[in-house]
Amino acid sequence: MDGTRMLFAYSSVNGSTAEIARSIALTFSRTGMDVDVVPVAGVQGVRLYQAVVLGSAVYGGKWRAEAVEFLDRLAKDLLDRDVWLFQSGPLGHSAQSIFRALPVNVSMRAECLRVKSVATFGGKLDQNQGGPMGHFLARAGFACDYRDFAEIRLWAEEIARVTATQSAFVRSGGARLVRAGSSR
Ligand SMILES: Cc1cc2nc3c(=O)[nH]c(=O)nc-3n(C[C@H](O)[C@H](O)[C@H](O)COP(=O)(O)O)c2cc1C
Repeated sequence: MDGTRMLFAYSSVNGSTAEIARSIALTFSRTGMDVDVVPVAGVQGVRLYQAVVLGSAVYGGKWRAEAVEFLDRLAKDLLDRDVWLFQSGPLGHSAQSIFRALPVNVSMRAECLRVKSVATFGGKLDQNQGGPMGHFLARAGFACDYRDFAEIRLWAEEIARVTATQSAFVRSGGARLVRAGSSR
């Protein structure tokens, strides 16, 4: 282990966002970092971690309330750390290529925290999932797995590289680069 500890927090109703978080964390653990993958509600604090990756499923155009609450509750300590966000939700075969902005309430918080980057990944819908709207979507042909794990791995590798560089710099005695300016 290289001494870097990463938190992967997620909010997921039906498990597909949790699987994305675990997949991203696996990429980090392969580089020798310690990883904790935890539902947002179970996170008491972030001080143990060098950096945080937060992901939320999107329902009705919104992030899950507990994920937004996570950003507010831990804002003070998140400000001192590198933070990456991802959202999971678009359904349909163009899901991977569609650019999706963050919901406004999340983008305001992301701006304040100066998050490093944001990714949107396709979602997954099973038959008989998601209540009446889920059934409607399933009948319309959207019950499928639109997650692209190759794309997810590329994003994970990119942010793992940034984290490893940052950690090596700090270990060599340098100050954290975080608030240095335009890289965010
Ligand atoms: C009722 C319902 C509403 C949804 N609304 C949205 C939405 O507004 N935007 C979006 O991108 N995806 C939407 N989705 C797709 C989900 O975000 C997708 O199924 C996601 O993978 C669910 O994540 P989870 O398994 O972690 O809960 C919706 C799905 C359901 C069932």
